[in-house]
Amino acid sequence: MKEITITTPSKNYPVYVGEHAVSQLSSVLESLTPKPKNLLIITDENAGELYLKTIKNEIGDSFPCEVFQMKAGDDQKSFENYYACQSFALEKGLDRTSVILALGGGMIGDISGFVAGTYMRGIRFIQIPTTILAHDSAVGGKTGINHPEGKNMIGVFHQPEAVIYSIEFLSSLPKNEVLSGFAEVIKHSLIADQSFYQYLRENIKSLNDLKGEYLLHSLTKGIEIKNEVVTQDEREKGIRAFLNFGHTLGHAIEGELQYKGITHGEAVAHGMLFALSLKKVTVQLGKELKSWLQELGYAPIPDGLSVHSLINRMKKDKKAAAGTIQMVLLEDIGHPYLASYQAEELEDRLAVFLSEN
Ligand SMILES: NC(=O)c1ccc[n+]([C@@H]2O[C@H](COP(=O)([O-])OP(=O)(O)OC[C@H]3O[C@@H](n4cnc5c(N)ncnc54)[C@H](O)[C@@H]3O)[C@@H](O)[C@H]2O)c1
Repeated sequence: MKEITITTPSKNYPVYVGEHAVSQLSSVLESLTPKPKNLLIITDENAGELYLKTIKNEIGDSFPCEVFQMKAGDDQKSFENYYACQSFALEKGLDRTSVILALGGGMIGDISGFVAGTYMRGIRFIQIPTTILAHDSAVGGKTGINHPEGKNMIGVFHQPEAVIYSIEFLSSLPKNEVLSGFAEVIKHSLIADQSFYQYLRENIKSLNDLKGEYLLHSLTKGIEIKNEVVTQDEREKGIRAFLNFGHTLGHAIEGELQYKGITHGEAVAHGMLFALSLKKVTVQLGKELKSWLQELGYAPIPDGLSVHSLINRMKKDKKAAAGTIQMVLLEDIGHPYLASYQAEELEDRLAVFLSEN
């Protein structure tokens, strides 16, 4: 098992990652000061069904423990569930010493962190990620929920006390969720580390390779890269925006498809290819990445998406400024930068990109 320390201006905390990292849970809880009056596990039906029992066994009789389980799916990262969690926490008598445990993927991590960050003006929480994608979402302190007008529009920065990443939990993930999470690993390599990208290219030829040492290295390296960025820019005033590589179009695709039939990471994979297609210096890299993604089993962009609607969504992105669209591009692997485009110009480029899909 590896331990990585996340360092941010507001807080430092450990990430335990490896087989059976969950065995760290009781000692992490015991080490908290003040001692938690009680715990609230927030989970969804899939992660809950599979791993709630394990978590409860780890906690044992040490702390009273309540469970709030919601349906699965990104549409559950909603005001309704946020409100229901807050009401449940009040009913069950959580106080300012209580601790929330987020058991699940990024959806659960985001909403649980937002509940924790706002309940009684902020209580502590621990991330227990169960997806590959959550190597990204569980670290860095961005929490929140979706609004019908856009994804992740409402939220707070709130760092967890610890992240406990037990990688045997990942073995039950369906293929599309493996594709989703691995796209974010690839993103981390592309924005930060040429040799990590080469490592992935050489060792991960199919999704079956993503286990054991290769899986552990993919996750730890991804977390370390995210840590480096977050350490320098906790509140996204500058370089943290590079983590959005692939996300401007990715979020628009997810929105157009109403978050159905495509995972977050699969949409981001298309977004990365589009970003690479925009500059001559990265066109070749984009072509190579595209054929590797196809070998791994990533599907083409679904047919029938409207270029105009995608562009309109990209204009509404949180990072967009009046009429322009901000994109993260690469000069080369490990050298990201921000570029602003007029919507009309990008519309033409996107039409070409989609026609070649
Ligand atoms: N906060 C951040 O910095 C950040 C960064 C990236 C993404 N995100 C957010 O993360 C979310 C996506 O995260 P995700 O991809 O983990 O989605 P998710 O949490 O919705 O999980 C995907 C699916 O896998 C199921 N699942 C979870 N663990 C499982 C397991 N071990 N075995 C079988 N099934 C399992 C879930 O029930 C769900 O159906 C989005 O809401 C995105 O906005 C946040």
